[in-house]
Amino acid sequence: MKKRIVSGIRPTGRLHLGHLHGALLNWKRLQDEYECFYFIADWHALTSEYERPEIIKESTMDIILDWLAIGLDPDKCTFFIQSHIKQHAELYLLFSMITPIPWLERNPTYKEQIKQLSSKDLNTYGFLGYPVLQAADILMYKANAVPVGEDQAPHIELTREIARRFNYLYKKVFPEPETLLTPTSKLLGIDRRKMSKSYNNAIYITEPAEEVTKKVSQMITDPQRGRRTDPGRPSYCNVFFYHEIYTPPEKVKEIEEGCKNATIGCVECKRIMAENLNKGLDPIRERRKELESKIDYVRDIIEEGDKKAGIIAEKTMEEVREAIGI
Ligand code: TRP
Ligand code: SF4
Repeated sequence: MKKRIVSGIRPTGRLHLGHLHGALLNWKRLQDEYECFYFIADWHALTSEYERPEIIKESTMDIILDWLAIGLDPDKCTFFIQSHIKQHAELYLLFSMITPIPWLERNPTYKEQIKQLSSKDLNTYGFLGYPVLQAADILMYKANAVPVGEDQAPHIELTREIARRFNYLYKKVFPEPETLLTPTSKLLGIDRRKMSKSYNNAIYITEPAEEVTKKVSQMITDPQRGRRTDPGRPSYCNVFFYHEIYTPPEKVKEIEEGCKNATIGCVECKRIMAENLNKGLDPIRERRKELESKIDYVRDIIEEGDKKAGIIAEKTMEEVREAIGI
């Protein structure tokens, strides 16, 4: 029997290369080894986007199309939409009864986000309870492990604490899931900050080739390479990190040397990188176009996934209701 993993993504916009190399390609690697449940966390998106819920609806289908375009396989994974499985709300409510508020208030991810997203009013009950809903997402499927980035590790820890408390108070229903830490992607945004929609520095997975080339040409390189004749330092250059992924290894060596000896200029270097990046993204863009022309097929996949997730969720809830006796 394969072990089960569960992971979700908040639909708050299109997916970019940070998502691709930070999470999605890892999800794809895991699909052969694990039984995978991947879902759209639309209620989680609502905790911060409650003032403009349109974005959630728009991005949901967009993200699912990207999942399929990069090669997540509906024969190996179950894809579903959180808000379609109402049992998540019920389990969330029950968990809220047994989760001490200090556990939530001391959560480092919570504190960090309140600070970072100070332009939004996140002083809500729903936002504080975010990890309780996440615990419901995970424990509903009795996941053995959860693939997430570093920032989400505290939420998985809280999930284990909630599982332990439930099992202790009522009856052993839940296993304690492990964290499968996804290595952070080295790829930065075009301005050298972390890639993020809100920084306006992202390259999107299925953005047209010309746009990609244009963004690459605007990328900030090694800040010490002011002039064409200055030697550069590839290990400090974001463009070089992209080469390491998208350019064939022999050519990467050549560029590394060329940069250090100032025999290649940044303009040329970026041109080569953009070309290789586009070559890497071409099959994804093509597949995405094909999928866009058969939206009914995509809808069927989600419907199937919702059904499969719903059956497991109801089974878990029967055990939960029985354990509490209510
Ligand atoms: N909080 C996660 C994030 O922002 C998304 C998420 C919601 C999730 N529920 C989950 C991830 C359950 C893993 C498991 O990335
Ligand atoms: Fe970066 Fe390439 Fe310029 Fe070197 S030549 S600094 S690797 S863009």
